[in-house]
Amino acid sequence: MLILVGGGKMGAAMLGGWLDRGMRPEEAIVVEPSAEIGAALAARHGVTVVDGPEALPPDTRPEVVVLAVKPQVMETVAPAYARFAATGSVFLSIAAGKTLAFLARLLGDGAAVVRSMPNTPAAVRRGVTVACASPAVGRDQRDRCQSLLEAVGDCHWIDDEGLMDAVTAVSGSGPAYVFLLAECLAEAGAAAGLPADLAEKLARATVAGSGELLHRAEESPAILRRNVTSPGGTTAAALGVLMAEDGLRPLMDRAVAAATRRSRELAG
Ligand SMILES: NC(=O)c1ccc[n+]([C@@H]2O[C@H](COP(=O)([O-])OP(=O)(O)OC[C@H]3O[C@@H](n4cnc5c(N)ncnc54)[C@H](OP(=O)(O)O)[C@@H]3O)[C@@H](O)[C@H]2O)c1
Repeated sequence: MLILVGGGKMGAAMLGGWLDRGMRPEEAIVVEPSAEIGAALAARHGVTVVDGPEALPPDTRPEVVVLAVKPQVMETVAPAYARFAATGSVFLSIAAGKTLAFLARLLGDGAAVVRSMPNTPAAVRRGVTVACASPAVGRDQRDRCQSLLEAVGDCHWIDDEGLMDAVTAVSGSGPAYVFLLAECLAEAGAAAGLPADLAEKLARATVAGSGELLHRAEESPAILRRNVTSPGGTTAAALGVLMAEDGLRPLMDRAVAAATRRSRELAG
């Protein structure tokens, strides 16, 4: 069985994925202090929800403890679950920036801990997660974590935890960059004379449809781009601006570098 600590946006999305994939509701206990969120999860998914670790049944022996609380509260929340390390649990953290060393301090040095970074498309089972395991994590525990993470999208593993800051900057924060693209495209459409609501619909459908095409196609993004660019045409005119020396590439480099730096600063 599994304990999910934190039934907020990301925790609830993951729980939905696990149940869709065949986990039985009685295999999960959710610890969620918000009565409103807890009642909604219990009603929607039929899982047991308790409001704190002290309310867990005394014979609880979870194979996995998923830590899905905000990074700021991890330090106060996680130690209450450290006792499960002794009974063979693996801890799967999705908290941004919280390192394996930090988690080991809270859970005990010998604890099996997986640090992961999912992203918000997990809510529609189209997320991507990168995970990194502490040396104490066994093969079965790693496989179990992988199948939990894959319930909401793709999962990749890294050995070098130092890469997690760049991962955070690319896929963790990345959905916001794409949403900004949709905003900018809509605003530019309105500036070009379209009614604002039509511009917004066009931008939204274009970003969503292009994302779906990218998802389904085997070609690289560069080839898909070339496929819609006729020489001397309208797309080529726009790409001349976007791909200029001061265009999107250096801007994206700076944005990802800024997010990577910030992730390093926030790490604990
Ligand atoms: N959302 C993202 O884009 C994203 C992406 C990657 C990783 N993450 C990570 O996912 C984690 C959760 O983020 P989120 O967006 O899902 O946040 P969220 O919606 O605020 O969910 C956190 C949940 O944990 C609950 N909680 C607080 N204290 C608790 C305790 N002592 N025991 C059990 N549950 C407790 C909160 O309840 P209250 O509301 O009552 O405080 C809330 O329901 C974060 O660490 C974040 O870094 C999020």
